[in-house]
Amino acid sequence: MAYNFLRNKISRHFSGQKEIAFDNNIPSPDSLTEKFEDIQELGIYLHIPFCTQICPYCPYNKEIFTPEACLNYKQAVLKEIDSYVPVLSGKPVTSFYIGGGTPTTMLGKGLEEIINHIYKHFNMKCYVHMESHPNHLTPENLDAIEAMGVKYLSMGVEALQDNHLRSIERPYTVAEVMKSVERAVRKGFECVNIDYMFDLPGQTAVEVEQAAHDMVKLGVHQVATYPLFRFPYTRWGKNNHHHGNAIATLFRRRKLLKILEDVFYDSGYERSSVWAFTKKGIDKYCSVTVPLYVGLGTSGSSYLRNIFYVNTFRVKEYVNATDSGRSPIALSIDLSEEMQMSGWLYWRIYETLFRKSDFEKRFNTSFDQKFGKFINLLSGMGYLSNGSDHIRLTDKGTYWIHAFEDFFSIDYINKLWGTAKFNSWPQKVIF
Ligand SMILES: C[S@@+](CC[C@H](N)C(=O)[O-])C[C@H]1O[C@@H](n2cnc3c(N)ncnc32)[C@H](O)[C@@H]1O
Ligand code: SF4
Repeated sequence: MAYNFLRNKISRHFSGQKEIAFDNNIPSPDSLTEKFEDIQELGIYLHIPFCTQICPYCPYNKEIFTPEACLNYKQAVLKEIDSYVPVLSGKPVTSFYIGGGTPTTMLGKGLEEIINHIYKHFNMKCYVHMESHPNHLTPENLDAIEAMGVKYLSMGVEALQDNHLRSIERPYTVAEVMKSVERAVRKGFECVNIDYMFDLPGQTAVEVEQAAHDMVKLGVHQVATYPLFRFPYTRWGKNNHHHGNAIATLFRRRKLLKILEDVFYDSGYERSSVWAFTKKGIDKYCSVTVPLYVGLGTSGSSYLRNIFYVNTFRVKEYVNATDSGRSPIALSIDLSEEMQMSGWLYWRIYETLFRKSDFEKRFNTSFDQKFGKFINLLSGMGYLSNGSDHIRLTDKGTYWIHAFEDFFSIDYINKLWGTAKFNSWPQKVIF
């Protein structure tokens, strides 16, 4: 109750809105064309919503893979791509990310065709960043992944102790997952990232430290370390699985993250985002890197300056919509200038280093005038260094500012994704 009150108060302050509401007001093709007109470059996100099993903690939009759903999905995505060809009209695409779900469920089953279609019809100026499942990284599949143009590969390792892999229901052992990682590292990828989850039920600090050393030994270019979040609509969220005191959880996570920071910094890695550590000199694996992007597929989200919209979540509904010539967009929100500015700052904080001049180029207004007081406060607390142009989060700030942002993100994901998962065409979602 008190948390919600506080959240709403802060949200209203930064957005300048009484409430933030998504509704089913779908932008017409003409209005989209107009919105694309003054966009100079953009990113593409492609969602692959299939998995071979559903993990009990996972908040992402996914369903169990079936050959039939996969085939229909491929055809529908090709149609959605075609619908964007006239509006994108040759604009450079400088960032391309394939996420899920598990993109590698569609290897040899249409993924190559989708990627080729994108490279054929859009003005692609970048390579592919893609998520994968360790069990799919056989030598043959790694060859196929490289041949598709993937240069940045991530895999969900999640834990490096067999007891934890069992407790989170991952379908492999430490020995097996290590072989997959080693195979990927030996290939010619620009960056191999592994996802590692910490603060798992019953996990000790010693186990986290041991896993960090093992990841370094594996020679991966990057590690993304996420504390396990509990989303109420997941199996573990519903059962209130291992839920502890919120304040104690915050401090415990800080301690575990510090252990990870120490090991990675000592081993030649540097922080590349709030949760990721990348070897010095390596180009980082990351999600879409440009501020404006189009999301393809179920739950694909698009951000075009003054509008943010989200596709329907269910494969069947997405396929039906594209088959019958309807838009797959389910929800949208028009963004005021105030909301765009706050959103800009919110996302730049994830990168831990950003420039005020980029804000000024984008909004034609002084960063210091807009956010100066807030930034000075954080700088006074030792949470960031405030240079004449660059702002860099300190390690202390990275953790606490992000914990503060999570206070909003998790609520947003719960409401938006939690609603859209059960209702394919919601009328309204209010924050
Ligand atoms: C889409 S999955 C990665 C690819 C593939 N589906 C897999 O599981 O191997 C994205 C990543 O999000 C992280 N993740 C999933 N659920 C999470 C949760 N509840 N809290 C924190 N991280 C989570 C995991 O590290 C996972 O690897
Ligand atoms: S963690 Fe990965 S494999 Fe597990 S359900 Fe989520 S997307 Fe699928």
